[in-house]
Amino acid sequence: MVKVSHLSKDFETKEGKLEALHDVSFEIKAGEIFGIIGKSGAGKTTLLRILSQLERPSGGEVLINNSVIAKGDKVITNNKIKKTMGVVFQGYNLLMQKTVARNIEFPLKIAGVNKTKWDKRVNDLLRFVDLEDKKEAYPATLSGGQKQRVAIARALANSPKILLLDEPTSALDTLSTSAIISLLQKINQEEQVTIIIVTHEIGVVKKLCQRIAVINEGKVVDYGTVQEVFANPSNIATKQLLGV
Ligand SMILES: Nc1ncnc2c1ncn2[C@@H]1O[C@H](COP(=O)(O)OP(=O)(O)OP(=O)(O)O)[C@@H](O)[C@H]1O
Ligand SMILES: [Mg+2]
Repeated sequence: MVKVSHLSKDFETKEGKLEALHDVSFEIKAGEIFGIIGKSGAGKTTLLRILSQLERPSGGEVLINNSVIAKGDKVITNNKIKKTMGVVFQGYNLLMQKTVARNIEFPLKIAGVNKTKWDKRVNDLLRFVDLEDKKEAYPATLSGGQKQRVAIARALANSPKILLLDEPTSALDTLSTSAIISLLQKINQEEQVTIIIVTHEIGVVKKLCQRIAVINEGKVVDYGTVQEVFANPSNIATKQLLGV
């Protein structure tokens, strides 16, 4: 479903070239919950942004459903593929001056969905993420966990087949984290959505992910099922993340 081959990304900075990703290769299967893990600055957000066609790579190739969406230093814009993907950004990214309902309906508007269908879809999504009572609330009045559920509902608005999430639980307490984990499991199982989650939290990885890629300094240093990688971490960075 997702195939990343020899992907690289360089940023030009004042200090010179910064190699954010280097020869990154892995595959994600349809229907799985895949974790991209690594410490701060490892390159996780950069990788997710390239997968969601928001960032230009520097080399390599990304295929989604057998379509090339990035090759060499180019994004191959594919709106059909884009429509099958929902993104939850690091730090919610909600429209603060709009209500919860207006936030969730925003992608429907962009996608040109008939206005008469918006309200039903928004109500269905609010029920799905258990926020029916917050429909007319503004994001500033919500807790972190509630904001994250709005961000997830918004990402699900156009019924994506792939959901990408960047650190969806890193600002949340244990209880809200558990609620988000349950919600993501429900999305994966009931809606058959493939989930790609970026996180540095090992507890989340253990509860949620089937397979993972560990990224360190822009390189994939461990890759496999959670059981395989955790039982036999090959890299010092993985061991540090695991606390061993
Ligand atoms: N637009 C940019 N311009 C220059 N350098 C960048 C840019 N975006 C990211 N970087 C650099 O690329 C590296 C990887 O950044 P990235 O945001 O992908 O890390 P991350 O793994 O998501 O970290 P965190 O866990 O803190 O979110 C960092 O060294 C960062 O400073
Ligand atoms: Mg990041």
